[in-house]
Amino acid sequence: MTKTAAITGAASGIGLCTAKRLTGEGWTVFGLDVGQDRLDAAKAILGNNFHPIPCDVTDANRIAAVFREIGSAAAKLDALICCAGVLRVGPLEDMAVEDFDQVFAVNTRGLWLCAREALPLLRRAAKKEVPARVVLLSSIAALRPKIMSGAYSASKAAVSQLCRIMAVEWAGSHVLVNAVAPGTVDTPMVQAVMRPGANSGYTTSGTSPLGRVAEAEDIADVIGFLLSPAAKYVTGTTIPVDGGTQAAFVPPAR
Ligand SMILES: NC(=O)c1ccc[n+]([C@@H]2O[C@H](COP(=O)([O-])OP(=O)(O)OC[C@H]3O[C@@H](n4cnc5c(N)ncnc54)[C@H](O)[C@@H]3O)[C@@H](O)[C@H]2O)c1
Repeated sequence: MTKTAAITGAASGIGLCTAKRLTGEGWTVFGLDVGQDRLDAAKAILGNNFHPIPCDVTDANRIAAVFREIGSAAAKLDALICCAGVLRVGPLEDMAVEDFDQVFAVNTRGLWLCAREALPLLRRAAKKEVPARVVLLSSIAALRPKIMSGAYSASKAAVSQLCRIMAVEWAGSHVLVNAVAPGTVDTPMVQAVMRPGANSGYTTSGTSPLGRVAEAEDIADVIGFLLSPAAKYVTGTTIPVDGGTQAAFVPPAR
């Protein structure tokens, strides 16, 4: 039977890469994102297994309507992958209230709302031997917060805590909940703040001990593992996917 997933933030970066992987493996994917243009572009790349759905994850009513729509079309969901996210940079003392609120509204509250609305559909797919899956995008910033990313780091720490609690609250329903915590990934999110002239003040964590920044595929690989039968006894974890960046402090060279 065809597997079915909903992916938020599916029009770009890690979400798009994950949608590509799953549609390529024959999954039916409902891709939620803001912005019709980018969803249309994703549809052109991903083809008939991809169903774009405009959805702003800060809008609770819209999210409820979207998951009703998915329920009518698919009856069940085998997986939810929450990739929608925003980064706002700057020192906490100067950050605009609107920016702080937007970071939490998308990264934390939006993720919780999507997981909550998806849960009845996940329960319909979930069996003891074949649990349904939720994968949340946390960040290395949740594990090793960085200056200039205060709101973002706090929003992602909250994601990792929600992950643990959802995992235990939903374990009896055979819905596994895990998070991945990428280090710097070369996606439009990071490219936007790093482009020449952006003057964002943002610096990435740099190359990892493995000598490079991540590509979206590196993260999609671990999401793929969390969706696979091999991860059927894994729940409530946040898995760093950071090439060892936060494993040990590297003192500056003398
Ligand atoms: N790129 C990195 O270095 C990095 C590192 C750690 C964690 N992450 C996390 O991975 C996830 C994916 O990031 P990415 O790097 O692919 O970024 P991206 O900007 O390429 O993709 C994020 C997507 O989220 C969508 N989005 C933003 N606000 C939304 C809203 N209100 N409703 C619906 N969709 C919305 C955007 O339109 C975009 O398509 C994010 O949660 C991000 O915080 C990224």
